[in-house]
Amino acid sequence: MEKNTFRAYRVFEEPDGHFKRQVVRRSFDDLPDHETLVRVDYSALNYKDGLSASGHKGITRRYPHTPGIDSAGVVEHDRSGRFKAGDQVIVAGFDLGMNTDGGFGEYIRVPSEWIMPLPEGMTLHQSMVYGATGFTAGLSVYRLLAAGQKPEQGPVLVTGAAGGVGSVAVLMLKKLGFRVIAATSSLDDSREFVGRLGADEHVDKTVTDDRSGKPLRRPRWAGAVDVVGGNVLATILKTCDYGGNVTACGNIFSDELHTTVYPFILNAVSLLGVDAAKCPWELRKTIWNKLSGEWAVDVSGLVQEITIDELDDAIQRLMNKKNRGQVVLKHQHTREQ
Ligand SMILES: NC(=O)c1ccc[n+]([C@@H]2O[C@H](COP(=O)([O-])OP(=O)(O)OC[C@H]3O[C@@H](n4cnc5c(N)ncnc54)[C@H](OP(=O)(O)O)[C@@H]3O)[C@@H](O)[C@H]2O)c1
Repeated sequence: MEKNTFRAYRVFEEPDGHFKRQVVRRSFDDLPDHETLVRVDYSALNYKDGLSASGHKGITRRYPHTPGIDSAGVVEHDRSGRFKAGDQVIVAGFDLGMNTDGGFGEYIRVPSEWIMPLPEGMTLHQSMVYGATGFTAGLSVYRLLAAGQKPEQGPVLVTGAAGGVGSVAVLMLKKLGFRVIAATSSLDDSREFVGRLGADEHVDKTVTDDRSGKPLRRPRWAGAVDVVGGNVLATILKTCDYGGNVTACGNIFSDELHTTVYPFILNAVSLLGVDAAKCPWELRKTIWNKLSGEWAVDVSGLVQEITIDELDDAIQRLMNKKNRGQVVLKHQHTREQ
C-alpha cells in the first residue's frame, strides 16, 4: 500500500460513457489546494450524492470525483488561521462533494469559509445524523414559521416522509405542536416507519397526485413541506387551505411544475423556495443552533450507520428509492504513514 494515503470512494467516467465506483487509496497531494485539511469522521448520504455517484453532470461536471456533500470531523491543519488543529467542525453545502472532493473520502481539503464550528451541545455523529437533509428540514420549517404558519391553522403535509428530509421535518413539526400528515408514495411500504415518526395521518399518492385537471380542489392541509416536486407539488398547491405556506426543496417526482395561478390569487397560498447549499452564513448558523437546541429531535432510531465498503450498496438503495431515514457513513481512518 502507498505511504501517506487515505481511503476514498471514487467515481470514474469510463471511455464508453459508463461510470465505475470504487474505494481506492489516495494521496494527500491529490486533494485540492485549499486552506484547511479536515479529517472526516462522518458523512451523511444524500440524494445529490447518489446523482453525483451516477455521473449526473448537473451535479458533478468532472470525474474522477469523490462525492459527499456533507461531512463532520476534526481540523488537522489550517493555513487561514481561523481554526486550530483539533477543532470539531461541520463542512456542508457550498461546492463540497459536487466539483470539490467530498466527505466520502477520509480527508477533505476545503476553503476555510466553508467550515462551521460544531454547534455547542452537538456531537459530530449527531450533526451528520441530521446532515444536509436534517438541515434542509430545519430550513423548510424555518421558512414556514417565518411566513407565519401556525398550528391553529390546521395540519401540515410532509411529502417523502419516509426519506431523509421528510422524516426529520415530521419530527420537528410535531415537536413544534403542529398536526402532521405524512405522505409517502405507497402506504404499505412505509407504514411501520411512518408510524414510528408519530405523524397524525398517513396518505399516499392517491391523495397527493391529483389528475383531475381542476385548478383547485377541496382544501386538505393548511401548509406543506414538499420534497418531491412535479404533480405532487401542483396537487399540494391546489389542495392547500387559504393563506397556507408550502415549501419546495426537491424534485424526487419531477423537476417540472405545472400549476395555475389560482392557488396564489384566490387562496393566497405562498410557495417558498428552500436551498441548503447556498444558504447565507448567518441563517445557516441559526438553523444549526436550532437543531442542537429548541428544535432538537431524536433521530437516532432513524439512522443506519455504514462503512465505506458498504457505501456502494447504500447508494444503489438510495437511487432505487429504497432507503428509510438517514444513512451515515462512519470512516474508519486507515491512514498509512
Ligand atoms: N434544496 C435543497 O437544498 C435540498 C437539500 C437536501 C435535499 N434536497 C432534495 O430533497 C429531495 C429529498 O431528499 P431526501 O434526502 O429526503 O431523499 P430520500 O431520502 O431519497 O427520500 C425521498 C423520499 O421520497 C419518497 N417518494 C418517492 N416518490 C414519492 C412520491 N411520488 N410521493 C411522495 N413521496 C415519494 C420516497 O419514499 P416512498 O417512495 O416510500 O414514499 C423517499 O423516502 C431530493 O430531491 C433532494 O435532492 C434538496
